[in-house]
Amino acid sequence: MIITTIEDLRQLAQKRVPRMFYDYADSGSWTESTYRANESDFQKIKFRQRVAVNMSGRTTASTMVGQPVSMPVAIAPTGLTGMQHADGEILAARAAKAFGIPFTLSTMSICSIEDIATKTDNHPFWFQLYVMRDKAFIERLIERARAAHCSALVLTLDLQVLGQRHKDIRNGLSAPPKLTMANILNMATKPRWCWGMLNTKRRFFGNIVGHVSGTGDMGSLSDWVSGQFDPELSWSDVAWIKERWGGKLIVKGILDEEDARLAVQHGADAIVVSNHGGRQLDGAMSSIQALPRIVDAVGQDIEVHMDGGIRSGQDVLKAMALGAKGTYIGRPMLYGLGAMGEAGVTRALEIIHKELDLTMAFCGRTEMAAVDKEILLRGTY
Ligand code: FNR
Repeated sequence: MIITTIEDLRQLAQKRVPRMFYDYADSGSWTESTYRANESDFQKIKFRQRVAVNMSGRTTASTMVGQPVSMPVAIAPTGLTGMQHADGEILAARAAKAFGIPFTLSTMSICSIEDIATKTDNHPFWFQLYVMRDKAFIERLIERARAAHCSALVLTLDLQVLGQRHKDIRNGLSAPPKLTMANILNMATKPRWCWGMLNTKRRFFGNIVGHVSGTGDMGSLSDWVSGQFDPELSWSDVAWIKERWGGKLIVKGILDEEDARLAVQHGADAIVVSNHGGRQLDGAMSSIQALPRIVDAVGQDIEVHMDGGIRSGQDVLKAMALGAKGTYIGRPMLYGLGAMGEAGVTRALEIIHKELDLTMAFCGRTEMAAVDKEILLRGTY
């Protein structure tokens, strides 16, 4: 199969990854309306084509929180990435390192913080933190992230309660996954995936198992995880985490201008306009729709990043034109991984990079700093 688009990777991943894990990636909450709007709202925005502009010497290079990036695209944190492909987080981190973009490891990853550091020769990466009730555990995670040379902490605020995803419920995807006969039969039809999993020795939640007492078996791990997300999370926790961490803090899951201002007041260096890929509050605005309002509110004070629905380099350019300083991709990375492991993630990045570079040229821009609303057709955003 010749792979030329992210959609090609999605189709291949669907064939190769067991249904319960593929569906976990390719789903949103409740009616999935926000999940769909994340993608479809990008399509409404139109470019202005320019001609006879000198487009030689173009570059997609930029910076995110002061760190150089070969294009303004980071890998978003995604839980259970190591179930799309054995050692998934390590493979995605390696692909990101080779491409010169940041990789963000989720708290809920299969491979641990230390696995990533060791297997990428201590190349700096970003670590995503969930606020949990066990504050001593958070402190230890922050220390481990520091020891592993993480160069930014991404603090996710939009998952104190879990959005209901019907596909996961039907498939029995819980921690631990329910190995029903249907799931076992489906896994048996994915020999590449099974072979990879049989040859890896990773634990289910690598950042947690072995680091919290009493989470040794799957049952107790599951109880611990489900009781941990802290419904009492408040902005004072954000300030506390910023103080403990001391480095770059990126606050993720902002959709409202008021919250964006609060993030600035509580020490964020950047915010990510995000609805968690349409997996949390269904019926919330799409990320690209929310972006311009938030840029207007805090764009002068802080870097505004966004994620949700980016499926091409054209989408990246639209977000940049609307004031983002960087973007993240979740599912495009997961599809690449499920389709072809590290090579698939690299392919996803190559596809997005090429689309970004060519679209810049069509719009008459040669560098990211020159990308602004002028490249978009008024009335379409
Ligand atoms: C996520 N996301 C997420 N975010 C986070 O902060 N911590 C996490 O553990 C996860 N887990 C997770 C799992 C899966 C399967 C998906 C698809 C997403 C949200 C993620 O970081 C990001 O916000 C979205 O994926 C962006 O949307 P796209 O690029 O997937 O459309």
